[in-house]
Amino acid sequence: MNNVDFVIKLGGSAITDKKSPLTANIKVIENIAFELSSIKKLPSIIIVYGGGSFGHFIANKYIHNGKIISSIGVAEIHSAMLTLTEIITSYFIKYKLPVFPINSSSSFILSNGELNSFIKPIEYSLNNNLIPIIGGDVILSEKDVRILSGDKIASFLAKEFNAKTLAFGTDVDGIILDNKILHKVRLSEIENIIPKIKVNQIDVTGGMVNKLLEIKNYIASGGRKAIIFNITRFGMLTKLLLGEENIGTEVDKD
Ligand code: IPE
Repeated sequence: MNNVDFVIKLGGSAITDKKSPLTANIKVIENIAFELSSIKKLPSIIIVYGGGSFGHFIANKYIHNGKIISSIGVAEIHSAMLTLTEIITSYFIKYKLPVFPINSSSSFILSNGELNSFIKPIEYSLNNNLIPIIGGDVILSEKDVRILSGDKIASFLAKEFNAKTLAFGTDVDGIILDNKILHKVRLSEIENIIPKIKVNQIDVTGGMVNKLLEIKNYIASGGRKAIIFNITRFGMLTKLLLGEENIGTEVDKD
């Protein structure tokens, strides 16, 4: 398995308008494509994206107690994610980025509760100078269908490909406490930070807390550094890829 420099998750709140069903945030997607295409020697990257107002909007109609309750719901969620995939792909191609969309519904299954993956196409696309992109989606198990989030896929792939950096591109500047961005966080500090986020950032609690828990598991199980940054701010992605410091919140092991 080859190593990658970056696994970058494009958060649904950044690349879609979460208030408006099935609406992409074209300006952000186009800026991302432009920034990637402007970097002279692009590091090796895997792009992962979230569902935003595509996957989540449809899923909300059909999920009860964590389960998708109808087959047509599964079909609709999958279709919405294919539409979002096509939008991202078309803007990457507009900027001559050799993008290679890979379907997570065909690359991941749950078997006896365990995530099974077939990620050779990601490895081979990297070997062929393609940029693999893969999104959160519905995945099948023996007897039901679940949602696999982009955050989970991103941390899974970052481990598999020994990513130097796992980056979560969101619509916030990082973890903000007392109106200041926390630029560096150590693994052992995460537990203390989570309750403070609950108090201070009520609106984004779920998203940020889940992300931090995902990052905590990722680093505790051998992952390298993770960064949460604001990908909706033009130029931040370039700074990330050029290795600049303090572009958001960076989490490292102790
Ligand atoms: C969700 O992915 C995918 C579906 C709902 C099908 P994420 O959970 O990673 O999406 P965002 O980034 O939070 O929107």
